[in-house]
Amino acid sequence: MILVTGGAGYIGSHTCVELLNAGFEIAVLDNFCNSKPEALERIKELTGKDFPFYEVDLLDAEGVNRVFDEQPEITAVIHFAGLKAVGESCAMPLRYYHNNITGTLHLCDAMQSHGVKSMIFSSSATVYGDPASVPIREDFPLSTTNPYGTTKLYIERILTDLHAADPEWNVVLLRYFNPVGAHKSGLLGEDPNGIPNNLTPYIAKVATGELPFVRVFGNDYPTKDGTGVRDYIHVVDLAQGHLKALTKSEPGVHIYNLGTGVGYSVLDVIHAYEAACGKTLEYKIVDRRPGDIAECYADPAKAEKELNWKAEKTIGEMCADSWNFMMKNK
Ligand code: NAD
Ligand code: WQD
Repeated sequence: MILVTGGAGYIGSHTCVELLNAGFEIAVLDNFCNSKPEALERIKELTGKDFPFYEVDLLDAEGVNRVFDEQPEITAVIHFAGLKAVGESCAMPLRYYHNNITGTLHLCDAMQSHGVKSMIFSSSATVYGDPASVPIREDFPLSTTNPYGTTKLYIERILTDLHAADPEWNVVLLRYFNPVGAHKSGLLGEDPNGIPNNLTPYIAKVATGELPFVRVFGNDYPTKDGTGVRDYIHVVDLAQGHLKALTKSEPGVHIYNLGTGVGYSVLDVIHAYEAACGKTLEYKIVDRRPGDIAECYADPAKAEKELNWKAEKTIGEMCADSWNFMMKNK
């Protein structure tokens, strides 16, 4: 059985569907601080399968332990649970350090005391800071520019230290690039509260008419059209990467970029979304967003070679599935 922390969230819910469809047994832990119970119902609806759920906060060490006491068949953990808003992490660093790092320490303690030594961790391309060149390989230098990113980097180090102290641990660090899109059914997707920080949820709200125009953060970067370039990856491709990572069952610390290897500019994404929703979308060039980098895209060759995983879905599918989700969840 796989314990999925943060399984009600955006990437976690899609991964639960892929796990159940592939025949894995799962248990899910979430405190719904950034998700809704409805996501769990939708996972069940999509797969026709049930699973134990624990409404537990990772900051509640006893609660986390109880999950392992009650589910002795857990053999591995996919650890999605964490706070992820970059701007909020600058305003509330202690909340981020506490939630993400203390939460992970409680999880590792409970795993260790129950003899569970296999963890797949949701890391991020943010640990590469402002890379000296692209595409980015896993052995590039690491640095961070905000407290959120620092929590990811520290957790990577904590898990690496855990393996150094007990070489039986099997740790897989998955560095995601920019996850977008939604499940084909339109039942699962990204639904942030308030004004979105990330590009595609923002564009989606311009497409529905909830926001008047896309603010393009700068067109004077040294990129093909001056706007920022990122490696957008369909959330279902990303979810499938976790299933492949479960096959990496030998002890060690295994690090993989999960990206497509292709960079798209902000204007590329706006135009792809226009094609998906059949509307012209207004946009205005505004100042650069502090902390943003010009270009970030993966070299995904290691994941392809060692995990036999490759992202398949195009930017057109990412935008079409996002739009379908918006239309079905008005
Ligand atoms: P999300 O917010 O949709 O999902 C995270 C889930 O974890 C939510 O359901 C939330 O309620 C839960 N959670 C948070 N803190 C918790 C706690 N203390 N106890 C129990 N549950 C808790 O985010 P997501 O986009 O699905 O991201 C999943 C993971 O991937 C996160 O760790 C995130 O940092 C990482 N990541 C995300 C992106 C991205 O752009 N979405 C990119 C790189 C890495
Ligand atoms: C993408 C591009 C913006 C919004 C963030 C985190 C990263 C990871 C993924 C978790 C950039 C531009 C954006 C808007 C815009 N998360 N943009 N107008 O910044 O690459 O990555 O999410 O780990 O850690 O930093 O993603 O979607 O915010 O921005 O022009 O309203 O779109 O400048 O070039 P980012 P994003």
